[in-house]
Amino acid sequence: MTDWQKLDEQYVMKTYNRLPIVVEKAIGNKMYDTNGNEYLDLFTGLAVNIIGHSHPKILQAIKKQSENFLHISNVFYNKPAIELAKKLVDNSIKGKVFFVNSGAEATESAVKVLHKFKINNNIEREGIVVLKKSFHGRTLGALKLTRQPNVYQDFPVPNYPVYEVEPENIAALEAIFAKEKPLAIIMEPVLGSGGVKPLSVDYLQKVEQLCRQYEVLLGMDEIQTGVGRTGNLFAYQHANITPDLILFAKGIGGGLPLGGIIAGEKLQDMFKPGDHGTTFAPSPLSAALGNAVIDELLAGQMEKGKSQAQKLWNEIQTLKDKNPSIKELRGKGMMIGIVMNLEAAAVSKIQKTLLDKGIMVDVTQQTIIRLLPPLTLTDEEIKFFIDTFSPLLEEVANV
Ligand SMILES: Cc1ncc(COP(=O)(O)O)c(C=O)c1O
Repeated sequence: MTDWQKLDEQYVMKTYNRLPIVVEKAIGNKMYDTNGNEYLDLFTGLAVNIIGHSHPKILQAIKKQSENFLHISNVFYNKPAIELAKKLVDNSIKGKVFFVNSGAEATESAVKVLHKFKINNNIEREGIVVLKKSFHGRTLGALKLTRQPNVYQDFPVPNYPVYEVEPENIAALEAIFAKEKPLAIIMEPVLGSGGVKPLSVDYLQKVEQLCRQYEVLLGMDEIQTGVGRTGNLFAYQHANITPDLILFAKGIGGGLPLGGIIAGEKLQDMFKPGDHGTTFAPSPLSAALGNAVIDELLAGQMEKGKSQAQKLWNEIQTLKDKNPSIKELRGKGMMIGIVMNLEAAAVSKIQKTLLDKGIMVDVTQQTIIRLLPPLTLTDEEIKFFIDTFSPLLEEVANV
């Protein structure tokens, strides 16, 4: 155990099981530890570094903004944030943005704006529908919507109804809409930590139809899927639908904390001064990085990333065809779940061996290897991953 690991154990609360790496530096798609080892980052700090670490455009934005100001508070007009809000709205739904610092806070803001909609319009419908195994954050308000038993424990939670439905079961959803009369539904277009499960276009379109029919507001949690990760700026756009509310975070800040909601026309004017707020968000520096990320994506990086993702999918599909230890391949774009036909211990061993060989991957739901690569992934990096992963699968098959 290194000194850093010992100090971490002594002084930092253990809410995560860490991989045994003390990071010294991260540039592009690579990370380096304190021993000088290099790692290919197929993990991007849990779906954050969408254009890699310390991208030149991000460094430029840091320099420029930090020479102006770092924090001013919401008492003043914040140019980088106004610019970013316009970009987000221009590239999604008509509406307005409320910025926060993280994904969970975006969920909290979504719950509050929905509540305001109910109160301001004197609406009887109440409660929010969510999908089984969904993840919407860990703060007390957001936790109520997160449907993973190991996360959703016996913490105190706010007292409003939440209805859980099975993804893709449209009849069950309609039954809830008809019987319970909920106010809104919030869903991840690709369930992330719930198992990298994409919702089908057909399902999303039917959900939208039902929402209109039953006057239920449609919210998309794009905290993990957004900012180009699936090949569109937001993943709901693959289904050609129009949500009333979009939640975003992770990739938008280019590595700095930033999140928010885009509230469509029905919701955009629900908050009045005093209804919601935070000292820090939107950090002008995070917002400046947000502008750099969006500009880079729209200048061609999103398209390039989409084609690199397709190459990676094709290669992993070829591996799957040859290896029964891969049960299923699912996800969208640079959000890939390799569902293994193995015990959790064997999958964990593959993750550790990949790490020893210089590749970082995530594991979710114990047996799913989750790849969240940057859109800047190169052909050589794809080859390196496949050449390293392939023999491991053969080894497992021969046990
Ligand atoms: C879909 C989704 N929603 C919400 C969150 C919570 O975001 P944060 O960890 O920034 O609070 C996450 C984080 O993993 C997520 O993937």
